[in-house]
Amino acid sequence: MAQDKSRIEWIGASCRLLAATAADLARTRPFDALTIGTAIHLEPKTAALLTTLQAGGAQIVATGNLNSTQDETIHYLRERGVTVVGGNTTASADHDANIAAILARQPDLLLDNGGDLFAMVAAAPYPKLRGGTEETTSGRTRLAPLRDTLNLPILVINDSPIKQFAENKHAVGQSIFESYLRFTNRSTNGKRVTVFGYGACGKGVAANFRNAFATTTVVDANPVTTLEAHFDGFATPSRAEAIRSADVIVTVTGAAGIITAADLPLLKDGAILMNGGHFPVEIAVDGLIADRAVVDVDSYDDGVETLHLVDGRQVHILGHGHMANLAGPRPLGNSVESMDLGFTLQARCLEWVAQSRVDASHCVVPVPPEIDAMVAAAYLGRPSARA
Ligand SMILES: NC(=O)c1ccc[n+]([C@@H]2O[C@H](COP(=O)([O-])OP(=O)(O)OC[C@H]3O[C@@H](n4cnc5c(N)ncnc54)[C@H](O)[C@@H]3O)[C@@H](O)[C@H]2O)c1
Repeated sequence: MAQDKSRIEWIGASCRLLAATAADLARTRPFDALTIGTAIHLEPKTAALLTTLQAGGAQIVATGNLNSTQDETIHYLRERGVTVVGGNTTASADHDANIAAILARQPDLLLDNGGDLFAMVAAAPYPKLRGGTEETTSGRTRLAPLRDTLNLPILVINDSPIKQFAENKHAVGQSIFESYLRFTNRSTNGKRVTVFGYGACGKGVAANFRNAFATTTVVDANPVTTLEAHFDGFATPSRAEAIRSADVIVTVTGAAGIITAADLPLLKDGAILMNGGHFPVEIAVDGLIADRAVVDVDSYDDGVETLHLVDGRQVHILGHGHMANLAGPRPLGNSVESMDLGFTLQARCLEWVAQSRVDASHCVVPVPPEIDAMVAAAYLGRPSARA
């Protein structure tokens, strides 16, 4: 008998590591009587993570990140007993209020994505908090200087080699490329694409555009990384030349102000700007729009904005500079396999924090290698010692 099922259920059924982890945690119940507060994109793959933590006995209080919350996911989670605070937010003040509302419940553990929860904890700590996890590069950069104040076990999922190659390199590369096609419906063949940032994410983005027959250029602030891009066969001209020649510019640096209004004179007619970095600060969209050289702005359906410049040039911005793979029409985010791996690391790291297998000396540090080995062996279907 045919049954109608949702996309969230398809994603859940595709997360085979999380399903096995949920079955294990349902047996061991490491989160019994504990509340986990989360601030991570509320989309189908995170639903699979949050229900896995629930299977281990956790009460979940969840909110999303800026501009990426999907209503169907909120509905799905609420039906399963997750307390979801707020909806999709585009204003930082609304998002900050949701973060404060999560912390007002004083969760025992925190699952952070970008450092919003732990940065607020650093300003107003509460004794019940045992520690938690941080998902991203941007969050690690923000929280590392706060180590002395936080003084809690905080495991950084981003710094697992598995997250680096499976998600940041391969999955972000594929999904940013997919997002370019999804937003624009334009080709990449023969286009000149400039990628800002040649870290894990930038390497995947540059490789995917090159594999799609684009002439790809890399700009990185670090000369050693630029040399690596050169050895990988990418053009590495000056920043100004890389902007001037680009039909498409992708930012994936984690830094603010990569493309600003000061770059308007350099941009080619018809240039498309998109961001893959965590925060919507890499392309200074509001500054570009407010510049004197911009005389008109068209907002197309599905998140494409076209800036008309006084000299007749046009510049297109995708998703208002938000992380493109979770913005615009039907955003899919990174591949299920990469997120299944990363979220299994999340679940196991939270298990270790709940069981006090790590302490305050593990404040803003990478995933313990034993957990990496266990998760890699599970993905490959090989036996491993239980971490
Ligand atoms: N879109 C997604 O799904 C997704 C997934 C994972 C990470 N991210 C985000 O992507 C961003 C990059 O992550 P990563 O893991 O590649 O980081 P990374 O630290 O490995 O690499 C960043 C690179 O950018 C370079 N850089 C910094 N400032 C620069 C500047 N002003 N101009 C040119 N280059 C500059 C650095 O030298 C570095 O090589 C972060 O914001 C991260 O949170 C997004």
